[in-house]
Amino acid sequence: MSGHGTPVPMTSRPCGPLKGEARVPGDKSISHRSLILGAMAVGTTHITGLLEGDDVLDTARAMRAFGATVTDHGNGEWSVQGVGVGGFAEPEGVIDCGNSGTGVRLIMGTMATTPITVTFTGDASLNSRPMGRVTDPLALFGTQSVGRAGGRLPMTLVGAVDPVPVTYTTPVPSAQVKSAVLLAGLNAPGQTVVIEKEATRDHTERMLAGFGAEITVEDTAEGRKITLTGQPELRPQTIVVPRDPSSAAFPVCAAIITPGSDVLVPNIGLNPTRAGLFTTLQEMGADLTFENMREEGGEPVADLRAKFSPDLHGIAVPPARAASMIDEYPVLSVVASFARGVTDMQGVKELRVKESDRIDAMAKGLRAAGVTVDEGDDWWRVTGMGHGNVVGGVTVASVLDHRIAMAFMVMGMATQKPMTVDDGSPITTSFPIFEGLMGTLGAQLVRNNA
Ligand code: S3P
Repeated sequence: MSGHGTPVPMTSRPCGPLKGEARVPGDKSISHRSLILGAMAVGTTHITGLLEGDDVLDTARAMRAFGATVTDHGNGEWSVQGVGVGGFAEPEGVIDCGNSGTGVRLIMGTMATTPITVTFTGDASLNSRPMGRVTDPLALFGTQSVGRAGGRLPMTLVGAVDPVPVTYTTPVPSAQVKSAVLLAGLNAPGQTVVIEKEATRDHTERMLAGFGAEITVEDTAEGRKITLTGQPELRPQTIVVPRDPSSAAFPVCAAIITPGSDVLVPNIGLNPTRAGLFTTLQEMGADLTFENMREEGGEPVADLRAKFSPDLHGIAVPPARAASMIDEYPVLSVVASFARGVTDMQGVKELRVKESDRIDAMAKGLRAAGVTVDEGDDWWRVTGMGHGNVVGGVTVASVLDHRIAMAFMVMGMATQKPMTVDDGSPITTSFPIFEGLMGTLGAQLVRNNA
């Protein structure tokens, strides 16, 4: 539950080379799903490497409110004793998902086919985000919902008493929507089918199979078709959460733009539905290498080495790649500012409904720092200035968005003058060790009111 307290202004000063190893936290998407699927299994799921950021801690609290026993054993080790598919109890109070769109949308799906009534809320950012994209398909199962204007939280859902299985084509490329429908399908009899025109992150499908659900995925003329057979008994799992590629993006991009840097980011999950940023950076001329490519727990993993990259140039990022790097556009726009030429990002409308309108938030901050940005409804373009030429020296708004705050802190490592964000506190939602970790590499981050 970030962003509820006093703002914490944070400054990043231009620094010398970044060197060393960046052990970033566990994957946020897999952490949420580990707790939720653990809560729906019969028996005890053991998790190591869980991300202990605010978003995931809010989901852990929610799972307890539904009746699961969730235990923190210290050092990222957690266990979840589940209540079985359809076994969720009605929570006593309101479910507060803090800043987390993934948390609230996946939990809505999970409770939607159990006859309980649940009220959801979040922080100012989450309460401004659209929930109709999830409650519309959930209504097809028989779930009722009532919220504020525009389908916003706070919102109450009444789970279906006699759920029917659903076939649904997602209208937006969203793993959250796909996952909400699949999780609802778990407690509906028969087959629930989701078709997505563009592939989005597939952790839910992989993990449902791991927990013993009958699930198939086929490529069809209409798109990627996922078929889930409802009412399985999920078997508890032992889960090792890989490190988060979306968090790795920050030290990797910092190294690429900061002269003399050489940073190793070990054990990064490289699921192809998540790794688009690294391909894009390589196309821009970044010195990025993958060492020790291997498979762990069904996910491809490697150690990433990122070095200062003197010859960065702008590219057109293929729209088909957008879903696989959707959370990485803010920090990519920072790298693009230090490249030569234009970086063109198309087909990225979804960026406007994340924790903030990320095109707007980045465009405002980059322009204030001296960078030219053009934008339209679903595209934006950054005209790079080349290394050493980006001015900085401004305070920008993080608008309750962890990735906006971290992107501007990375930028300040290589601008001529420091960059300040008005509030760095949202960073704890996904990367609670960001300041300390970047500091050990050589970054100069300070809290202005410390
Ligand atoms: C996530 C899916 C993405 C992403 C979010 C995590 C997930 O959102 O932006 O940070 O874990 O399913 P959308 O599915 O809405 O694109």
